[in-house]
Amino acid sequence: MTILVTGGAGFIGANFVLSCLRAGEEPVVNLDKLTYAGNLGSLAAASANPRHLFVKGDICDLELVSDLLRQHAVRAIVHFAAESHVDRSIRGPEDFIRTNITGTFRLLEATRSYVATLPAAAREAFRFVNVSTDEVFGSLGPDAIPFDETSGYFPNSPYSASKAAGDHLVRSYFHTYGLPVITTHCSNNYGPFQFPEKLIPLVILRGQKGESLPVYGDGMNVRDWLYVEDHCEALRAVLAGGKPGATYNIGGDCEKANLDVVHEVCALLDELHPLPGEKAHRELVRFVADRPGHDRRYAIDAGKIRRELGWRPAEDFRSGIRKTVVWYLQNQDWVNDVSSGEYRNWLATNYGSGVDAQ
Ligand code: NAD
Ligand code: DAU
Repeated sequence: MTILVTGGAGFIGANFVLSCLRAGEEPVVNLDKLTYAGNLGSLAAASANPRHLFVKGDICDLELVSDLLRQHAVRAIVHFAAESHVDRSIRGPEDFIRTNITGTFRLLEATRSYVATLPAAAREAFRFVNVSTDEVFGSLGPDAIPFDETSGYFPNSPYSASKAAGDHLVRSYFHTYGLPVITTHCSNNYGPFQFPEKLIPLVILRGQKGESLPVYGDGMNVRDWLYVEDHCEALRAVLAGGKPGATYNIGGDCEKANLDVVHEVCALLDELHPLPGEKAHRELVRFVADRPGHDRRYAIDAGKIRRELGWRPAEDFRSGIRKTVVWYLQNQDWVNDVSSGEYRNWLATNYGSGVDAQ
């Protein structure tokens, strides 16, 4: 029996594949299109592992997905593949519609046909885990209670709207066809292998080079941070014990304003990679134009997964962010690999003259 992971060359997907292989469990088929965000370098530790099969391909390719499900007798799908960056969705939503909506739909269709061919016991045991986000719930006021599984959908960016559409399709396949799906809503992840278009790796890498650190708006937008390996553990708990048709919220119980996050990274860089002349990294912070429609606050109530599946995060922000900064400082080859021409173009497009893109 095999797990099919989609998007397993991306940030969370790669961490998930590596953790499954480390745990010595079943084989993993890893389907990834290798967009700008996918990187085989993140899977180097799995390259010689006979239980890992990487397939370069698109989740929109119904025939390919159907063949993989059949050929590998897949018993579960963990669906990460997505366009995942809010800023890119604002500049060009089309790819988000294609992958996050059409791609999820094709994956569901292939799965529905495949599951129908399984004997009753295998059909019962099959799981489709849809990895979604807290962003589908919209933005919280400063005193509002955190999102739980009953929160309504109020997506505000093309990214979160496309994820919400995917979630609705997933839900409908449970109610209409009885497909054993489970959707998870996780808060902001950080850790190794995250593409440096996202806040934390961006700040580490620019700070390391003494470049300016772009903070949107007033820097007081709040996110709930979770170390990526804790997210992977939560997904494995959901795969093992989650109830078909259910949803689970996953978060670190760790709300922080962006400026505080940036300052914490700066303090670690001061310690681990000081700038010449005793200049403090926090002096590099520059407030730049805000993200259009920027959600003010996300926060997750992870009580359900804690109570029902016994999951809780192993890392707090202090330990997780230190591990993360150390990882980026020690993995310059990976960093150089992803800092391609395409990435430099993105910096110039998104930040223009607001920050010294180099
Ligand atoms: P990522 O952008 O780092 O990786 C996405 C991966 O999907 C890449 O490897 C890419 O090549 C692949 N991909 C894109 N389009 C594809 C397609 N059509 N077919 C096959 N593969 C394709 O994303 P991430 O940060 O690892 O996020 C993974 C999932 O988790 C996403 O669904 C995202 O919405 C969700 N999520 C992310 C976070 C976070 O903080 N990063 C939090 C909650 C949920
Ligand atoms: O909440 C879960 C979501 O977290 C996931 O669904 C998304 O896939 C993931 O990208 C992430 O979305 P965010 O938009 O919250 O992450 P990002 O790292 O892009 O931004 C984090 C916060 O930092 C956000 O409030 C915007 C701000 N920011 C970001 C960048 C890139 C800045 O102030 N400056 C920046 O240069």
